[in-house]
Amino acid sequence: MKPQMRNLNLFLFLLLSLHFISVLSWKREEFRNCNQTPFCKRARARKPGSCSLLARHVIISDGDVTAKLLPKNHETSEDHHEINPLLLTLSLYQDGVLRLKIDEDPSLGPPKKRFEVPDVIVPEFSNNKLWLQRISTETIDGDTGPSSIVHLADGYEAVLRHDPFEVYVREKGSGNRVISLNSHGLFDFEPLTAKGEGEEWEESFRENTDTRPYGPQSISFDVSFYAADFVYGIPEHATSLALKPTRGPGVEYSEPYRLFNLDVFEYIHDSPFGIYGSIPFMISHGKSRGTSGFFWLNAAEMQIDVMGAGWDADSGISLPSEKTRIDTFWMSEAGIVDAFFFVGPGPKDVVRQYMSVTGMPAMPQLFATAYHQCRWNYRDEEDVEDVDSKFDEHNIPYDVLWLDIEHTDGKRYFTWDRMLFPHPEEMQRKLAAKGRHMVTIVDPHIKRDDSYNVHKEATKKGYYVKDASGNDFDGWCWSGSSSYPDMLNPEIRSWWADRFSFEHYVGSTPSLYIWNDMNEPSVFNGPELTMPRDALHYGDVEHRELHNAYGYYFHMATANGLVKRGEGKDRPFVLSRALFAGSQRHGAVWTGDNSAEWDHLRVSVPMVLTLGLTGLPFSGADVGGFFGNPEPELLVRWYQLGAYYPFFRAHAHHDTKRREPWLFGERNTELIRDAIHVRYTLIPYFYTLFREANTSGVPVVRPLWMEFPSEEATFSNDEAFMVGNSILVQGIYTEDIFSAS
Ligand code: NOJ
Repeated sequence: MKPQMRNLNLFLFLLLSLHFISVLSWKREEFRNCNQTPFCKRARARKPGSCSLLARHVIISDGDVTAKLLPKNHETSEDHHEINPLLLTLSLYQDGVLRLKIDEDPSLGPPKKRFEVPDVIVPEFSNNKLWLQRISTETIDGDTGPSSIVHLADGYEAVLRHDPFEVYVREKGSGNRVISLNSHGLFDFEPLTAKGEGEEWEESFRENTDTRPYGPQSISFDVSFYAADFVYGIPEHATSLALKPTRGPGVEYSEPYRLFNLDVFEYIHDSPFGIYGSIPFMISHGKSRGTSGFFWLNAAEMQIDVMGAGWDADSGISLPSEKTRIDTFWMSEAGIVDAFFFVGPGPKDVVRQYMSVTGMPAMPQLFATAYHQCRWNYRDEEDVEDVDSKFDEHNIPYDVLWLDIEHTDGKRYFTWDRMLFPHPEEMQRKLAAKGRHMVTIVDPHIKRDDSYNVHKEATKKGYYVKDASGNDFDGWCWSGSSSYPDMLNPEIRSWWADRFSFEHYVGSTPSLYIWNDMNEPSVFNGPELTMPRDALHYGDVEHRELHNAYGYYFHMATANGLVKRGEGKDRPFVLSRALFAGSQRHGAVWTGDNSAEWDHLRVSVPMVLTLGLTGLPFSGADVGGFFGNPEPELLVRWYQLGAYYPFFRAHAHHDTKRREPWLFGERNTELIRDAIHVRYTLIPYFYTLFREANTSGVPVVRPLWMEFPSEEATFSNDEAFMVGNSILVQGIYTEDIFSAS
């Protein structure tokens, strides 16, 4: 290329980068808060006790308890024939797992079937359903009506209270409650209806309008955890491990925890705002009883309140275990109730019970548990060779070198910029000869370029997500005008998986693995930087119904691609930014675009611990911080902490100064080398812990209370953590500190 051309390209690139940075730096006003989200605002305005549903026709059918939920005044109301009951099913599974489903009755013809998230629950779970034979009835504590009781597991019972409708798990004998749903009467289920005359269903936020062709369809309810000192989980947020209350007098957060996968550039380090991933699974822990959990399988936008003391002071509802009960409030824009109650009683039991539903984590290859070197971008083959050889010169081990988006031909994934990377196979072989691997990035936005074979084929086969008018959805991302394969469709996932064959992915070799980024999905010109909610997927599913799982299906298809490529003999490695319940089966995740700040170093610990608690043991944060230039002391501290992240990778934005470990003077190089050597010394231990996670679900790094469940002082500690059951790590999160107190 002529030097003038190169300069022009560089100029254009810088201009574009500046454009994206100014567009994408986190601006609160670009994202909706609860008040700007009608379903959330409506749900939050409801008063305790406003649910008037009763459980009627409670019977055993096909080994489940089934009932109809009808409003109290149903029998007496004159137009009762217009009220369609909701169908409730309670099923029991091994290990004391209780499942509650509530949906509209399909035989009564709702305008559309509500979306149930497929391919998250593993088949082994469904095969382990226990066949219920008997139901007993009891009148509890001065109730006017009966409750139906079923035996759950050793020592526990599930109770369906009829009037008012409530579901809870209690200990047999003592009768003490463990978890309950609708004890505050906040349950609400907006049935799908035909649009009434003059009714306004569209919703607008900033310059975007959501056509909402099916109108309001949200669901909300309260869940209470008993004998609980703290609640944890529901990633992904940059916040403390023990969740702070969001409602009630004097709370620190006024917004609920948002679960809505978003590409939030420069996210702040202490906030309930939603970022790249969503796992609607909460765990409670308390000294007096132990641990319990609640999981709602629903992929639509969710908002969750953790109620602070006194939130219900004038509700008039009185419940047992007032002092050690934690109330929470769950709201979702669409879908059905498909909820799971886990009784524990220990922290490891709850995690195992959750994973019996969503699957055990994949067992990584050994190399993936070692140190990874990444940057946006390693410029060309020479740069790769130089960085690779400098690791050897400085006696610093590393296993994987990563290439970001600039390695491609114009952000057409599965291609190479042949000016910069003319010999990709040879480059990978040279690394492989030293036992090293390469990872390249493959994002879901496919450049709309008729000469690009992936686009041509996807268009021809009709494999893209459609916009509300039925055309291929066209959004803006790194590759400019782009479309997104519809990953909900198994046929399209299989086609995507085939893109990773050596034949299709020209220039790839067996030592090449994959990085899935921007799969929330990120759409620079979309509402809140994502896909419009009224976009359409396979089976006429609206994007709003599955949004939080789009990246999960993309991750799944990519991991399957590597399995296919290796004919089932090679364990895949795929890192994903977006995540959902079950992502653990497909590979690793990381906490996205953090910043080179001490506060971000600190919050990486609760973020990684929370992911581990909710099923994802293989996670880490960008070592050094993605945005900004870390001071050498911060960088060194980050390596010292990062050496204990399950996923240990340094990464940096293209605007930052180069920061390979040897660039900060001899002393700092030595300290970084030591940190990386510690990791390599511990690799057999880490690998063993990954196997433990793979067979039992117990995370590789653990909150202290998981190992010491009755030590109260550990319950809210998220500065220190355990690696397995034998190493305690205390990070240093402030400059000029040389020991932790
Ligand atoms: C966003 C990712 O979070 C970041 O890690 C990556 O470097 C850029 N996209 C460019 O691919």
